[in-house]
Amino acid sequence: MESYLGTIKSEFTLSKSKLQELTEEFQKQLEIGLKCTDGMLKALPTFVYDLPKGNEVGKFLTVDLGGTNLRIGLVELLGNGKFVIKKDSSVVPDDLKCGSGREIFEFIACNIEKFLEHPEIEAELPLKLGFTFSFPVEQKSLAHGRILGWSKEIDAKDVIGLDAVSLLQSALHSRGLNIAVEALVNDTVGTLLAQIYRDDRTKMSVILGTGSNAAYVEKSSQVIKTKIDSDVTVINIEWGSFGDGTNTNILPITRFDFRLDNESKNPGLQKYEKMISGMYLGEIFRLIISELVELGILVWNDEIKSTTPYSIKTKHMSQFHEAFISNNKILCNNLIKYKFNLNPLCDSDILALSKIAEMISLRSCYLCAIGIVAVHRHLLKTNLLGSNEMFSVALDGALYQRYPNYSKILQNLVCELDGVGVEVCRVVLVMAEDLSSIGAAAAIAAAKK
Ligand code: GLC
Repeated sequence: MESYLGTIKSEFTLSKSKLQELTEEFQKQLEIGLKCTDGMLKALPTFVYDLPKGNEVGKFLTVDLGGTNLRIGLVELLGNGKFVIKKDSSVVPDDLKCGSGREIFEFIACNIEKFLEHPEIEAELPLKLGFTFSFPVEQKSLAHGRILGWSKEIDAKDVIGLDAVSLLQSALHSRGLNIAVEALVNDTVGTLLAQIYRDDRTKMSVILGTGSNAAYVEKSSQVIKTKIDSDVTVINIEWGSFGDGTNTNILPITRFDFRLDNESKNPGLQKYEKMISGMYLGEIFRLIISELVELGILVWNDEIKSTTPYSIKTKHMSQFHEAFISNNKILCNNLIKYKFNLNPLCDSDILALSKIAEMISLRSCYLCAIGIVAVHRHLLKTNLLGSNEMFSVALDGALYQRYPNYSKILQNLVCELDGVGVEVCRVVLVMAEDLSSIGAAAAIAAAKK
């Protein structure tokens, strides 16, 4: 086990020079993405022309489709950066994720209909709807977005190339629901707008959940590929695709990443996301454990379950890591038995597994840090940000919120990459929990003015 751990460590550790190289490459790819439509990073213009000021008011219906959950809400913006939300949440069923895409939109419309059955919600009708859609879309306006593809192991058929707003709108109409979809925003964009609504110094948002992505406020003149009628706009980087492309070998891909990618629903795509986000970290962990079993170091207690891809969730890897740190041996052993499907382990093997979880999560943190620092450097270079100005980044997603120490480590790594101590670092990471629907509402309210 000792020597195996050494090998894994050397594969998962990124040297300082590699991190700087990756940061430079990320910044370069972002700047290419702003110029042309076929860059590695899509850097999608969002047609958000008006950033919220914090004084917007009104009630809005919101829908948030992510990789795991669907959330329907009634958002009331109260001004002064304040809001209230009433919401319902449901899990997107697995069979829908690989069926016909139209069924996903039917599912959304059906859940909206149920939500409107609450008399206090129905009484608020008519309402405008803000749609948070956490997948890449090419926008032509705020309420239009051609679906470019799926990610996060969703592979729904027949809707690629179609407008997500029209699909939702017709699913609503076929149920007799006369609701106008007025804004389509990515979850990163929703989070950014909501945090700007609360604090106008916010310049960037990052999602670290089932998937990973980021958005930021950009000078429109930098977006050479699209004409934008405002001084600043919001760019959805779609950073999960950093490293994609046949001739590029930028990312430090290990054999586990290679296998995960090959066996995924979108091989060759979203390579950076596959090394960072919650959909995948548990699977990388499972692939390493599988190798330990093949080597005869560990033994499965349920071979069928454990050899099923994605049977170990990042949530369980995270709970195990947390239990190990807090010395909760009972929980560690339960997770090993029931979630990792392994025979009982001795203390040194438990320690080794916790080190493996740490290496996987730390690499995720490092890779995320390079993206944040690259955007910061780009904004300094193009003078959208002064060198002494604070760069406030809103973060959301279960990985950021719940993985032990992730948020603290990420803040430290960002400062480390920037070459300064936390006390003087201008990049400040702020928790922005579950805000993307608020941002969709703020997008409508701000555009109205
Ligand atoms: C995936 C999607 C992206 C989304 C991210 C976080 O990367 O492609 O649109 O923002 O997941 O949910």
